[in-house]
Amino acid sequence: MKRRILVTSALPYVSGAIHLGHLLEHIQTDIWVRFQRLRGHEVIYVCADDTHGTATMLLAETRGVAPETLIESMRQEHVRDFAGFLIGHDNYYSTHSEENRHYAELIFSRLKERGLIFTREVEQLYDPEKKLFLADRFVKGQCPRCGAEDQYGDNCEACGATYDATDLKNPRSTISGATPVLEASEHYFFDLPQYAQFLRDWLASGTVQPEVANKLAEWLDAGLKPWDISRDAPYFGFLIPGTTDKYFYVWMDAPIGYMASFRNYADGHNEVSFDEFWDAGGGAESHTEVHHFIGKDIVNFHALFWPAVLNGAGFRTPTRIHTHGFVTVDGTKMSKSRGTFINASTYLQHLDPEYLRYYYATKLNGTVDDIDINLDDFVQRVNADLVGKVVNIASRCAGFITKQFDGELAAGLHDEPLWQGFNDAADVIAGHFERGDIARAVREITALADQANQYIAGHAPWAMIKDSAQRDEVQAVCSQGINLFRMLMIYLKPILPRMAADAETFLNVEPLTWADLASPLTAHRINVFKPLFSRMEKKAVDALIEASTEASGAPAEQPSEPVEVEADAVETIGIEDFERVELRVARIKAAELVEGADRLLRLTLDMGASERQVFSGIRQAYAPEKLVGRLTVVVANLAPRKMRFGVSEGMVLAAGPGGEEIFLLSPDDGASPGMRVR
Ligand code: MSP
Ligand code: ZN
Repeated sequence: MKRRILVTSALPYVSGAIHLGHLLEHIQTDIWVRFQRLRGHEVIYVCADDTHGTATMLLAETRGVAPETLIESMRQEHVRDFAGFLIGHDNYYSTHSEENRHYAELIFSRLKERGLIFTREVEQLYDPEKKLFLADRFVKGQCPRCGAEDQYGDNCEACGATYDATDLKNPRSTISGATPVLEASEHYFFDLPQYAQFLRDWLASGTVQPEVANKLAEWLDAGLKPWDISRDAPYFGFLIPGTTDKYFYVWMDAPIGYMASFRNYADGHNEVSFDEFWDAGGGAESHTEVHHFIGKDIVNFHALFWPAVLNGAGFRTPTRIHTHGFVTVDGTKMSKSRGTFINASTYLQHLDPEYLRYYYATKLNGTVDDIDINLDDFVQRVNADLVGKVVNIASRCAGFITKQFDGELAAGLHDEPLWQGFNDAADVIAGHFERGDIARAVREITALADQANQYIAGHAPWAMIKDSAQRDEVQAVCSQGINLFRMLMIYLKPILPRMAADAETFLNVEPLTWADLASPLTAHRINVFKPLFSRMEKKAVDALIEASTEASGAPAEQPSEPVEVEADAVETIGIEDFERVELRVARIKAAELVEGADRLLRLTLDMGASERQVFSGIRQAYAPEKLVGRLTVVVANLAPRKMRFGVSEGMVLAAGPGGEEIFLLSPDDGASPGMRVR
């Protein structure tokens, strides 16, 4: 029976670039989606950017743009990054959409009608200067347990203690530097404890992996608390209906964003009905499924709050939640200083996306264990398996068929049992894909590739071709080899969609499906073989690591993650510190765009006695031609920095809040290049 499946990946925060961690999740999801489609099922895969919250508001403020402008440009970057990794979202939307507002308000009003919402006063740290309530990550101070300085409001990185922000010693706001004060305000709560039994039953029905179920059972045993779903103004989000200064907490409307993205998609596709996928009754009767793919850090939001909220509001609950672990590189957390915090766009400048898709596939085993990218193993695995085993089969056989037999495959199979063995593996491999144990599927597939290579080596067509009596045998063996290759490509197609498409061109066939496993390709003309895959080079990996290391010293082209905004942090320096900074007047001699960096300009500066190249993040404020001839102040003794695009030999000073509002000195007021500024 044809299954009808809605699939989602967690919604990336709009404030940061897509990196290896997000890619693990979207590649895992995309493989599962492509596998289901290959098997003939109907799948709709949606995602969106998660846009709301204080961080978005502050980031837009420091950039000097409206939040809407910021989120649309980030969304486009995210869409481009995912497309670069061949992720086939049917819709990549935004939580800041009318559809999302509609469903957030609808769900809230239904929960309220059913007595699941109440209000209560909450005391929280408040920034008296910036005039806003401070989430834990916007408060820093001394750890109440070990006294370590500079710790966030929720836990201590030095000793691991967890605490409330109000317990910090000498707390300060990371936004203004002010000392926070306690303030009370009214918050809205979702009455989660009413759902304790419901959740136990729901979790027992096989909706999550066993180790996730155990973790959730611990939380349930410890007792559920009501969930605070509101935040006070100022906030970037949706106003709670009936209030003028209360907003839905970002995590309230974020999962609703799955529905909103799907609604937006369904509205453009008449054959897709929203209700069939989301109505409490509709879901079960029409056999639709909803699958969420998430990381282990957000299990509570998806497996406790979300099903309870959905049920409370009369919607169906998810069929299954697929949880993965975290990406590490060479055994440790991704790190900017080690160059292992790798962004999608940087990766794509150095390596083929299918290398990563394949490597992740060899590691994804359906558990919540962390996934390590060992950089040496990465190169070795890709080359050994894909180049050495799979592509090798086609390249060894294709030449003979093309040159000796005019591209024509033999009329029958040379080794029927071997072909049958490849076919018999289908159910086992499908089972592994279905359960998310892609690593095991890959092991089965590469074992088959070994068999195919042994078969070809055993018959050695390159030796037989010397004997004209064995011509038919050569055609038969090579045709068999190409048939085995074709079956391997069907199995690998969810993982390597581009390579599969190239293989289809080579084989001269319609897009391959799972059903094609059942019948061999005989008496069929293939096309000339072109290399399907190039060897992965270790030096490209080294260049990627280097580029990622450099990026950390570069001006903030993209906010780091998590976004930490320290707009007006007041930390004083002495006059001696200031005197160490050598400021000089420079005239901008030339200004050019920098390819691949949409905030940067490459400036050539006339410093009086010398010239310098400086990269400056002022492209949004000035068109390059507007800058030529202007004067500016330069930090002349800043150590040169190697960036992705070249060496930057200083820093240009300008005033303004950022974005389009940045101001350099106006032309000629008697200053001349080289002059010292004091
Ligand atoms: N916006 C929320 C999700 C809302 S879903 C309704 C969020 N965003 S995130 O950008 O921080 O993370 C998005 C997904 O990427 C999460 O599932 C998270 O677990 C995953 N990853 C982020 N960093 C990761 C690694 N280093 N490794 C693997 N996955 C990680 O959470
Ligand atoms: Zn501590």
